[in-house]
Amino acid sequence: MAKIIEDVSRTFSEYLLLPRLTGKGHLSRNVSMQTPVARYNAGEQPRLTLNLPFVAASMQAVSGVEMSIALARMGCAAFIYCSQSIDQQAAMIRKVKAHKAGFVESDSNLKPDDTLADAVAISRQTGHSTMPVTHDGSNKGKLLGILTDKDFWEFEDDLSAPIAEFMTPRAQVVHGSVGLSLHEANLLLRKHKKECLPILDGEGYLHSLVFKKDYVDHRKNPNEILDSRKRLITAAGINTHDFQDRVPSLVDAGADIFAFDSSDGYSEFQKDAALWIREKYGDRVVLGGGNVVSGEGFRYLVESAGLDFVKVGIGGGSICITREQKGIGRGQASALMDVVAERNRYFEKTGWYVPVCSDGGLASDTQIILALAMGADFVMMGRYFAMTDESPTPRVSISGRMYKPYWGEGSNRARNWQRYSSGDEANLKFEEGIDGYVPITGSVKDTLWLTAEKLKSTMCNSGAPTLAEFRDNAVLTRISQQSFVEGGTSNVVRLDTESSIVD
Ligand code: IMP
Repeated sequence: MAKIIEDVSRTFSEYLLLPRLTGKGHLSRNVSMQTPVARYNAGEQPRLTLNLPFVAASMQAVSGVEMSIALARMGCAAFIYCSQSIDQQAAMIRKVKAHKAGFVESDSNLKPDDTLADAVAISRQTGHSTMPVTHDGSNKGKLLGILTDKDFWEFEDDLSAPIAEFMTPRAQVVHGSVGLSLHEANLLLRKHKKECLPILDGEGYLHSLVFKKDYVDHRKNPNEILDSRKRLITAAGINTHDFQDRVPSLVDAGADIFAFDSSDGYSEFQKDAALWIREKYGDRVVLGGGNVVSGEGFRYLVESAGLDFVKVGIGGGSICITREQKGIGRGQASALMDVVAERNRYFEKTGWYVPVCSDGGLASDTQIILALAMGADFVMMGRYFAMTDESPTPRVSISGRMYKPYWGEGSNRARNWQRYSSGDEANLKFEEGIDGYVPITGSVKDTLWLTAEKLKSTMCNSGAPTLAEFRDNAVLTRISQQSFVEGGTSNVVRLDTESSIVD
């Protein structure tokens, strides 16, 4: 006979946190939100930590190049989606890696007989306004000059004129030589009051560019996470079907963190794929898996596949219809607490701490905070990030309001059959996700800043200056329907809701 678990499946909004003693030093500015993404042995440091406990889901409508750059610069990460060709995904990883190398390979290059119209077209395509002019128009050609958008007026000048008439010629270009350190390059930029410094080899061929704005960016984003070559950390979704081709390509492109993107990770397919990756790359990559909803699933993946972190959640995602379609899943709070309890037992027994990621179904800042209090080391979100300016979808106006499209990886639109099929047929037989729209919240920086401020404030209320203490100290209570109602406003006309304004 089937086994029935005693407790019902519970979700985050059934719980509240009780305050703990707030000490005088428990101030928002003293709170650290650092969190591990890689398993570590008691007493040692994790191989990789995030500075904010939020990651963006491996989804077409969420994690592209722009999101990855924005999040890595803020101290977290976006998992570039794997429901695209290996080459396309690797190209995205390369773009993120190139973004912040200090020494950047130019992607907007001209040759002397190109016209201003060519320059405008290239600039529109790449979004960059500094264009080296080389003898062959490549980013490794002999440097003949530099053209920037300050050198001409797009709507006044004759766009059929050759750029050679407008560029700053090589003789007047301040440059650095190959072998210069980034610090020395920045000193030259400062000394000569320049925005961009081309780096040339001994024969005058272009090697790379160094930009003042990258230096400024770095100083403005002290939380950014960089690899050993000072490039932004990148993360990628992978699957259990083509990992033998995909993972090597992504490693070559520079990916640092991988996570199996699977609706059900409690499988021998995932174990085998993880072992293959570990055998080939050892600890050089951070490797996460899932999704699971039980301590049993967690232990299987950690013991048999040696994963660095485990994602929790089936059926709770905002676009997810898995529970309706297949009757499988679990309330996210119950799933998370079951896995966290097993993680803690595993830690006590082996000394290995394995970070847990709560994935999907986080509908508000409160729920994010509760997930972290219940033991998640970080949370993965789709809808939250899909709503920001940096998600890869276009803005759409519906009835006078601005939205962005958001669809599940199991929808017909994404056709990510690898996420749902364990090992057999290569097609999507029925949908497990929907296709829709979400309202726009604004820039991901502002959105995350607000969530982080709320989290820090709650951590202070809980007397916890670190996320580890927050997890250990948290005292939660279940709430009744009546106390849930009590938590809202009562008998007051709110001025901030649309209905009261319209009324
Ligand atoms: P959200 O943050 O509630 O929008 O949930 C995002 C999470 O839902 C992702 O990280 C995935 O784990 C999961 N997910 C993505 N696409 C689908 C789908 O089509 N069906 C079910 N779950 C999905």
